[in-house]
Amino acid sequence: MRPGTLQQGEMGGLPAPAGATVADEIVRLKRERGAILLAHYYQDPEIQDLADFVGDSLELARAAQAAQAKVIVFCGVRFMAEVAKILNPAAEVLIPDLEAGCSLEESCPADAYARWRAEHPGAFAATYINCSAAVKALSDVIVTSSSAERILRQVPEGTPILFAPDRHLGAYLERRLGRTMVLWPGTCVVHEQFSEKALVELKVEHPRALVAAHPECPEAILAQADHVGSTTSILRYVQESRGEEFLIATEPGIIHQMERLAPGKRFIPVPGGSGECACNVCPYMRRNTLANLLACLRDGGPRLELPEELRVAALKPLQRMLEMSVATPRG
Ligand code: 13P
Ligand code: SF4
Repeated sequence: MRPGTLQQGEMGGLPAPAGATVADEIVRLKRERGAILLAHYYQDPEIQDLADFVGDSLELARAAQAAQAKVIVFCGVRFMAEVAKILNPAAEVLIPDLEAGCSLEESCPADAYARWRAEHPGAFAATYINCSAAVKALSDVIVTSSSAERILRQVPEGTPILFAPDRHLGAYLERRLGRTMVLWPGTCVVHEQFSEKALVELKVEHPRALVAAHPECPEAILAQADHVGSTTSILRYVQESRGEEFLIATEPGIIHQMERLAPGKRFIPVPGGSGECACNVCPYMRRNTLANLLACLRDGGPRLELPEELRVAALKPLQRMLEMSVATPRG
């Protein structure tokens, strides 16, 4: 039997061609449903390999908006699938596991966010895309890690900025912009746990290695980095750099694309916590598996639904993000 070959019963009663693998069936069902599969870099490698497009949050938002397919199957976390639905309401948006949340989204409930905003009248509310549609609807503009600096440079000097929900990304942007903001105290459960001690030990062990880190990491990790950027930016960096060895301080799912796009180079994941746990792996992203992706395509669900009023309210700051992320930055 080929690896991943379907066992009797795995197709929930649907006939599967003899010897078909789970991957074969996903491809077949995708075609049958007229679906496009979008995936984030933190998904399992086998899911990335089946995707029509793999990207960072901003690229995935643009890909979802441009998709002509009847169905978008989103392999990422729920807020990403919500963004796809907000930007492309004509498409049916499916996600293998609706419980694929995000610790940043959880840290920022809409009612608490609304009270916080009300405490700062006249401030401009820039919110990281890792939040619920309800929080987006209360924001002036949405940003991603790849677009935040460019967007915030367009906010007039002297206008107070509220930034939620990631305090590490917020602090990193403050340093880049030379400007203070009012920060919501949320963190990413993955990036928060990277161990400075483990990183320094790895640097001693691999003195020629370059360090690439995501801006959701705490300042102590970013201070050790040769490059800080979004997932796509890190991927580009390792391809273009003359370095041969890299220490990667973000979710290790991205290493699959690094090995594909920069063959011959070596990528070492920075461990989280004590180094004995797998806490550098995003538990939310990894709720999507080949098995529930197959079930999702077979069953046509779980389906992402949003009340139309909420969708329209959240669309405004997202559209602003898409416009401001291509605009020429001031200064
Ligand atoms: P990117 O936009 O850099 O892909 O980040 C998404 C994310 O959730 C990082 O934890
Ligand atoms: Fe959220 Fe962190 Fe997972 Fe990204 S890696 S989806 S920020 S919990």
